[in-house]
Amino acid sequence: MDTFSRENIENLVSVPSHSGIAHFIRNIAGPVLDWSGLLGIIVLSLGTLIIPAISIVLLPAVIFLAVYQLVLIYFSQIRFYKIKVNSSKIELGLPKPVSFVFVSDIHVGSEYAATNNKRLQKIVDKINALNPELVLFGGDFFTERIEVERLQLLNGVKAPLQFGVYGNHDAYYLKNNVSYTLPTKFLEAIKTTNIKLLINESVNLQVNGVDLCIAGIPDLYSKNFDIKKAFADASPGTKRILLSHNPDVIDFIKEEDNIDLLLSGHNHSGQIFLPVIGAALPMPTKRRWLTKGLFQITKNTKLFLSQGVGYSGSRLRINTDAEICDITLT
Ligand SMILES: [Fe+2]
Repeated sequence: MDTFSRENIENLVSVPSHSGIAHFIRNIAGPVLDWSGLLGIIVLSLGTLIIPAISIVLLPAVIFLAVYQLVLIYFSQIRFYKIKVNSSKIELGLPKPVSFVFVSDIHVGSEYAATNNKRLQKIVDKINALNPELVLFGGDFFTERIEVERLQLLNGVKAPLQFGVYGNHDAYYLKNNVSYTLPTKFLEAIKTTNIKLLINESVNLQVNGVDLCIAGIPDLYSKNFDIKKAFADASPGTKRILLSHNPDVIDFIKEEDNIDLLLSGHNHSGQIFLPVIGAALPMPTKRRWLTKGLFQITKNTKLFLSQGVGYSGSRLRINTDAEICDITLT
C-alpha cells in the first residue's frame, strides 16, 4: 500500500475527539488539578456543616491539603514562568557544526494555562540570548483562540532565518473534526510574524557554510501531510531535516526518504512525569515511550523530541522542563 494513500492515512491516524464536551472537560480539569488542595479544604469545610462528626479529622486533613496546595502554587505560579535552555548535540556527520534553536508548543493565548505576554517575552529573550542564525518552530503556537496581537511579541526574535510548522492546536478547524483543509485563520496570523511556514515544502539553505534542507509538513491530524512532496525540491546530497509537530509521523517515514533528522514536539514529555508511573496526564501520542530527547527511528533517521516550552490544560510541569532547545548538529 502506498504510504500516503488516503486509506493508509485513515488507518494509521486517529484524531482525538474535539467535541464541545471533551473541550469543556479539558479546560476545567487543568485549573481543578492546580487548585485541588484548596478545593479539598472547601469540600471538607462544607462536609462538617452536613456531618459534624467528621470535624475530628478536619484539622490534620486541612494542614495536609494546605501544604499540598502550597506545593501546587509553587509549580503553577512560580515555576510556570521558569524557562530552561537545554543544549543537545546530534551527530549527523557534518563537515562543520551547525547550531540552531528549536522551540515547540509555545501555546500563546489568554487561556488559563497558555503562555501569556510575560512568558512569551521571556521565551523571546532566551532565544535572542543564544544569538541563533536559525530558529525552527515545532507548532502549537496557540492553544485554542488565534490571538494575532499576542503573537506579535514573537517578532522580537532577531534570528534572520525562522521556519515553522503548524500543530493540532493551531488548526482550529479540528474542533469540528474536519480535516484536509488548511487553518486559514492561523495562516493569516503567522503571516504577521517573521516565520515562514512550511506546508509540504522545503527550503535549501546554508548555515555556518553547511548546506541543509529543511522541510515541514502540516499537523498529522490534518491528514494532509506528504513527506515526499515536502522534499521534492531538496538539493541532492544535502542533509535533510523534517519538521513535524506530531512525532507519530514516524509511521510514514521510510528508510529511502533519507531523512537525517525529524524534529517534533506535541507530547510535552507528558507534562507531569512521575517515577514508576511515567506520564501522569494522557500522552497525546500512540507511543508512551516518545517522551523527550533523541531516538533512532530508522537506520538513517533520528528523531529529536522537544518537551515543548508551553503548557496545555494544567499549569503543572513536574519532572519535565518548559524548554528551549539549543541544538548543535555535528
Ligand atoms: Fe502542544
